[in-house]
Amino acid sequence: MPRRLEPGRLVLATHNKGKVREVAALLEGYGLDLVSAGELGLPEPAETETSFIGNAQIKALAAARAAGLPALADDSGFSVASLEGAPGVYTADWAQQPDGSRDYAQAMAKVAALAGEHPGRLAWFSCALVLAWPDGHTEAFLGEAPGQWVWPPRGLDGFGYDPMFQPEGQAQTYGEMSGAAKHAISHRARAFALLAAGCLRKG
Ligand code: IMP
Repeated sequence: MPRRLEPGRLVLATHNKGKVREVAALLEGYGLDLVSAGELGLPEPAETETSFIGNAQIKALAAARAAGLPALADDSGFSVASLEGAPGVYTADWAQQPDGSRDYAQAMAKVAALAGEHPGRLAWFSCALVLAWPDGHTEAFLGEAPGQWVWPPRGLDGFGYDPMFQPEGQAQTYGEMSGAAKHAISHRARAFALLAAGCLRKG
C-alpha cells in the first residue's frame, strides 16, 4: 500500500516559477499548502542519475530532508526509440546554450537530424513524480505518452519539444493542441493521476 500524503504543507522541489504554477493547479482540492524549494532558499542538488525517477528522487529527498516536510519533485523529458531513448534525461541539456539560455528550435533540429538517419518514428514523453518524506520514505510514479516524432515542427502553442511530438491517436502535435487538450492526455497528466490515485485524498 502506498503511503498517503496527509493534508498540510508540501514542498515543491523546484526553483522554476512556471512549474510551481502548473503543479499548484494540478494539486488543487487536496488540502495541500504548497511552498517551493526556491521560496525556502533550499539548494538545488545535482541531477546525477540516469533515469527520470532517479533524478526526481534526488530532488524530492533533498528537499524533504532539508525542509523537514514532505516534498514532491518531477523530472521529465523526450525520448526517441531509434536514438536509444535520447535525449531522455538530458532533454533540457540538449537545448542549453553557452550563455545559459535554452534554444529549443536548435535542440529539436538536432534530434530530427540524428533520428532521421534511422528508420522508425516512435517517440515518447515521460514525467516522473517522486513524493518523499523527511524519514526517507518515497513513492514514485511514471507517466508516459507514446507517439511519434515529426519534422518539420508543427504548432506554436506549448513549450520545449511540443512542436515535434504527435501523440498516438492524435492528428495534432502537442504544439498544435490547446493547453486543455494536451493536459487531458499528456505524460504529466498521467503521472499526476497516478500520484493522486496512490497518495492523495480529496479534501
Ligand atoms: P526538467 O525540467 O528537468 O524536467 O526538464 C524537462 C525537459 O523536457 C525540458 O527541456 C522541457 O522542455 C522538456 N519537456 C518536458 N515536458 C515537456 C512537454 O510537455 N512538452 C515539451 N517539452 C517538455
